[in-house]
Amino acid sequence: MRAPGTSTGTGVTPDTGDAELGTPRATGSPDSEGASSPGAAEDLLAGYRAPAVRHLLSVADLGRDGILEIMRLSDAFAEVAERPIPKVPALRGRTVATVFMEPSTRTRLSFETAAKRLSADVMTFTVATSASVKGESLRDTVETIDAMGIDAMVIRHHASGAPLRVTDWVGASVINAGDGTHEHPTQALLDCYTIREALTARRDGEVPADLRGLRIAIVGDIKHSRVARSDVLAFAALGAEVVLVAPPTLLPASLEGWPVSATGDLDSTIGDLDVIYLLRIQSERLGEVLLPSLDEYHWRYGLTRARADALKPDALIMHPGPMIRGVEISPEVADMPASLVTRQVRNGVVVRMAVLFHLLGSGVM
Ligand code: NCD
Repeated sequence: MRAPGTSTGTGVTPDTGDAELGTPRATGSPDSEGASSPGAAEDLLAGYRAPAVRHLLSVADLGRDGILEIMRLSDAFAEVAERPIPKVPALRGRTVATVFMEPSTRTRLSFETAAKRLSADVMTFTVATSASVKGESLRDTVETIDAMGIDAMVIRHHASGAPLRVTDWVGASVINAGDGTHEHPTQALLDCYTIREALTARRDGEVPADLRGLRIAIVGDIKHSRVARSDVLAFAALGAEVVLVAPPTLLPASLEGWPVSATGDLDSTIGDLDVIYLLRIQSERLGEVLLPSLDEYHWRYGLTRARADALKPDALIMHPGPMIRGVEISPEVADMPASLVTRQVRNGVVVRMAVLFHLLGSGVM
């Protein structure tokens, strides 16, 4: 894991399309592709200049200031999402490729929707229908896609560190959409945004500066979870207190350097939590028997109705999906109003619009 604040990029070179895109559209005129008329989001983002970060591989690439910047941009795109035509021309002429070497429902669709709402062209690579099944290497695959002329590559891979290797092979901006057990930075960003949104609603519209004062528990298979690694970095960067709750076999061998505390006893801490963040057991990554049974896990660590009743009345329930109902969460709790799971998915689109714009933005909506 990189140290917080280190950048993986060297700077964004404006592309030759900037001059054309830089011509402001007349106020109120519809975009040729059907995008909505300029409004508050355009005002906020006008003149936006992409920072000196080309890739997003880890939450640490952004640091606290970068995370807050993505939150601010997401607010602007949330306003776009409410429009009758939720689309802006910000990335017109740019191409975003999604390269998923592992299954995905929400992350891939969310990135593709985000890119389309920014008017980018989208290229989709799916492993089952590609030459990868004929034995083509990752390097040859990504170099082939890059050679078609893309601006960003959103990559998911079963090997931790694969997106970092890809940055050596392609000219495009690389966005990590989940690499092995390492990181899943955009999931952490949408999680921060979702908590911030819930706090804002609770405070009659006053946006909190960060997540200070919150106690957040991440419960479950921390050892194999890239979501946990990214969330710990993001929640801690925004000042939250993070507690990891898991059986010892599902915690990393060492937590040295992690800004967290850890416990094996969910029931002793559940009443103090502001957010409970549940994780799926990553069965595909276990490789050995680490649990007596899933029933036993549910009994000791699952968010049952009884445990949900022991939460503070305004505590938030979160999960990155896919949920395995009856294991880490009981079906009725998953559907309770305190559960933000659908809100997380919804916010994923605006946060990924913010990430794509942050990395590729031409400065013009
Ligand atoms: C997660 C992932 O793939 O890391 N899903 C997601 O992207 N929302 C979590 C998981 O698979 O359990």
